[in-house]
Amino acid sequence: MKIRWVVLPIALLVLGLIALTAADDAKAGKPASPVYGVTVPDGYRRWQFIASAREAAPFDELRVVLGNAIAVRAYRKGTLPFPDGSVLVKLAWKEVQSPDFASATIPGAATSVQVMVKDSKKYAASGGWGFGRFIGGVPTDEAQHRTCFACHRARVADRDFVFTRIAP
Ligand code: HEC
Repeated sequence: MKIRWVVLPIALLVLGLIALTAADDAKAGKPASPVYGVTVPDGYRRWQFIASAREAAPFDELRVVLGNAIAVRAYRKGTLPFPDGSVLVKLAWKEVQSPDFASATIPGAATSVQVMVKDSKKYAASGGWGFGRFIGGVPTDEAQHRTCFACHRARVADRDFVFTRIAP
């Protein structure tokens, strides 16, 4: 009987440590952006739609911004700044002619996935947002990541550095 009381907590501790290590491994395995250490969030394709955008030449891209539950709630309530834990993902594709309908353009090859993560303490130097840009799942270089906040700050500082408004 006595032995059990000793063994049980130890067994739980060991199991806990194994679980923690596994979680760390999963995180470490994901490629993170330079400067910010932002990764592509799991399951983001199931997040809610915020708005679409079309970018003219030379990009010729169709874009969609998705938000996690915290970001969507903030959008709906008009909460600014966005609360910590808000995550926005922008997906982009080459705009191509629909093979089925003359006046329609549709998403072609995927070009990039861009991520903004709100953590007001960790990213205090960049308006509370961490940035990540990924091509084929691989983060782009540091020079590109030095441009993110500058452009967002120059144009939409009054909306917590977020361009996209929720589509009506
Ligand atoms: C030259 C200006 C510019 C730069 C540089 C820039 N962005 Fe943006 N970003 C925009 C615009 C404009 C939008 C609005 C959607 C659109 O038109 O594609 C946007 C939208 C976004 C969004 C969706 C949320 C929002 O603010 O609307 C994310 C996420 C994002 N950008 C991430 C990044 C990351 C990561 C980088 C750096 C690698 C970056 N951006 C660099 C202009 C810029």
